[in-house]
Amino acid sequence: MNSDVHYTKKPIVLVGMMGVGKTHIGYKLARILGVTFFDSDKLVEEKAGCAISEIFERFGEQKFREAEANTIHELLDRPACVIATGGGALTAQKTLESLKIRATVIWLKLSPENIFERIRDSGHRPLLNNDDPLQTLRDLSRQREHLYNQADIHIDVDDLAEEEIIQHIIKRLSESAKNDNV
Ligand code: S3P
Repeated sequence: MNSDVHYTKKPIVLVGMMGVGKTHIGYKLARILGVTFFDSDKLVEEKAGCAISEIFERFGEQKFREAEANTIHELLDRPACVIATGGGALTAQKTLESLKIRATVIWLKLSPENIFERIRDSGHRPLLNNDDPLQTLRDLSRQREHLYNQADIHIDVDDLAEEEIIQHIIKRLSESAKNDNV
């Protein structure tokens, strides 16, 4: 990667439904761009000293959402970096508003059916611990679409291999950087 190319001064934030690959893609993207990678779910877990499923169980979803929003806000004070968020991060109005101003937001978009195929055996997502996780994914995708839609860059990842997703992101980032400099 050409380190002279200036992609963005703001943090790059990956959003989208659970299971779309935000952490994995974010980690690799950060390495390519030569910036630090953060995963908001992981940081929330580290601060709480337990897994997200346990936070949901012991303190409830609302407490998790507060911890998630605080963690993302702290990360936004950093210079250029890549941040992978949890799938529900944008449901906090404050987070959505801050990200729109202070970050370059990228939506990784994948159909509920493909998400289900990817994560059906993973078992660590508390919102999917029910009799019909596929229907839950469909419902959550529909409910959250208008939030994700506000991202600066949309990448449809359904038919793309990981390397292609990253190349698409880099292309879109460099286009936005060029437009910003015009
Ligand atoms: C959630 C997604 C999860 C995690 C939590 C809630 C959601 O993160 O934050 O289980 O509301 O969609 P991933 O998107 O990284 O799986």
